[in-house]
Amino acid sequence: MELSIRPRRLRSSDTLRRMVRETRVSPESLIYPLFIVEGENLVEPIPSLDGQWRYSPDRVCEAVEACRAVGVNKVLLFGIPAHKDACGSEAWNPDGVVQQGIRAIKAKYPDCYVITDVCMCEYTDHGHCGILCGHTVDNDKTLEVLSKTALSHVQAGADMVAPSDMMDGRVAAIRRILDENGYETVPIMAYSAKYASAFYGPFRDAAGSAPAFGDRRGYQMDPHNRREAIRECALDVEEGADILMVKPALSYLDIIREVSDTFDLPLCAYQVSGEYAMIKAAGAAGLIDEYRVMCESALSIFRAGAGILITYFAKELAEAMGKGDLG
Ligand code: PBG
Repeated sequence: MELSIRPRRLRSSDTLRRMVRETRVSPESLIYPLFIVEGENLVEPIPSLDGQWRYSPDRVCEAVEACRAVGVNKVLLFGIPAHKDACGSEAWNPDGVVQQGIRAIKAKYPDCYVITDVCMCEYTDHGHCGILCGHTVDNDKTLEVLSKTALSHVQAGADMVAPSDMMDGRVAAIRRILDENGYETVPIMAYSAKYASAFYGPFRDAAGSAPAFGDRRGYQMDPHNRREAIRECALDVEEGADILMVKPALSYLDIIREVSDTFDLPLCAYQVSGEYAMIKAAGAAGLIDEYRVMCESALSIFRAGAGILITYFAKELAEAMGKGDLG
């Protein structure tokens, strides 16, 4: 057979395959989500997220230590307060659960990069992401509490804030309050294209943040839409976001690709709780090779155009990268 072009030539050995890889990843691109629960001496397994735990502030450093041991030095903090109320006032308590967690991590590991999720749903008794007016979330009132919350995280020592509420104008509001208080160098990673997704189910069990009535479709994006994601990202760019995010990841690879082609800001993707839980469950049931599916799904997110990945698999992925199974 006369075949001058044989793509298989470059697939013929491991050395060659590694040399011609188009997607390169490293543990530096990984962010590990961490749940901090109010209390003392607590490390509670999360039933909906096999292999994940909630830590009280005095023990959160154990989780950070385990991450650092494999080369992951960035965490995204979520707080689970003991007391919730209608406006989520624990969110901006200077001695709230996340603020305590930030201080504990920074005291022991000053070089650990601490990012905080800024949202009201874990702090409100109704579970919605902002202040209610009747049965809808009042956008502009919510901006005030989000801004106060972001500022209190930064005052406690957070390196970066990540608003996930999907209120209009929140990046601008947070940028303004940070700048007014002398934090103009603290970056904002915006959950820009965050869809109203069923993939957040296990997270809401973990954080006790499921809405008490209705759903989040009045503020999170409709999964049918693609162009709207570009519009949301463009607004966040204008408002001063430093990093854009698409969430969830695996069912939204087309959005990741398009956002990465359209904007020149760094792009983060969030492989959310439901994506993690499905891989764990199918692996435990013997239906798939959990390790290989974990690697392949993360790789596909990077290949689609994400440069940063938030994932509950961060430690395992870093180890896989170390072994050369990914990277
Ligand atoms: C807070 C928030 C959620 C997630 C990240 N930030 C939950 C939600 O919007 O309901 C989901 C993360 C995950 O599923 O892993 N608003």
